[in-house]
Amino acid sequence: MAGKESLLPRNVGIIMDGNGRWAKRRLMPRSFGHDAGMKRIIKLVECARGIGIKYLTLYALSTENLSRPKEELEGLYALFLRYFEEYAPKLVNEDVAIRIIGDLSALPQNVADKMREVCARSKKDAPFHLIFAVNYGSRAEIVRAANFAAELGGKVTEESFSRFLYTYGVPDPDLIIRTGGELRLSNFLLWQSAYSELYFTDTLFPDFDDKQFKKALKEFSRRNRRFGKV
Ligand code: IPE
Ligand code: IPE
Ligand code: MG
Repeated sequence: MAGKESLLPRNVGIIMDGNGRWAKRRLMPRSFGHDAGMKRIIKLVECARGIGIKYLTLYALSTENLSRPKEELEGLYALFLRYFEEYAPKLVNEDVAIRIIGDLSALPQNVADKMREVCARSKKDAPFHLIFAVNYGSRAEIVRAANFAAELGGKVTEESFSRFLYTYGVPDPDLIIRTGGELRLSNFLLWQSAYSELYFTDTLFPDFDDKQFKKALKEFSRRNRRFGKV
């Protein structure tokens, strides 16, 4: 039987998909959808903190998304910058630890620097951890880890290998939510999701409100996690 503490996921991952279609339905440019997505992020972070979730991992940009048109990417980078200038510092002052997983070197220097600076000011032992996956791809992460391991030499274990991943020190996601109707992980946390519960909804991310988030958590609390046991 599930213990009481396991009714609430420690780490929730969200694949925030559907911004473009949300905007298209309103005959607006995709950037309008990304803007609305950022507004949802701000609210969901508050909701997750209020509920007592310890880690929220948000998929903001995949390695594959870097092949999108330049204008869309520039719009996204401008949004990241705004978030890290206007919102993230307040969160850090309120004891939220912010961390980036992924390769920031492909982003414009000023954006990457701002993100790194805010993350560096985060406390390690914060009660709430907000993790953004930016230019993140799980395969790239695993290859990077394999290269670190090869440089060191010797055999790896699951334990030692996972220390080379971006997510070192972060518990595996108990629950992964994907909005936007697609039934796939799109290169998100492949290693870490070995025993994650998956929750898919057709709701486009800008419409994924607190009520729907709580509905996903409720469904999670009813899942029977066996981890291979009987
Ligand atoms: C997800 O929304 C956000 C990012 C990938 C940056 P999309 O931009 O993929 O929106 P859709 O899937 O085209 O609707
Ligand atoms: C996944 O969405 C990536 C993010 C939400 C950041 P995509 O829109 O890139 O995924 P695919 O292309 O539909 O698999
Ligand atoms: Mg998409």
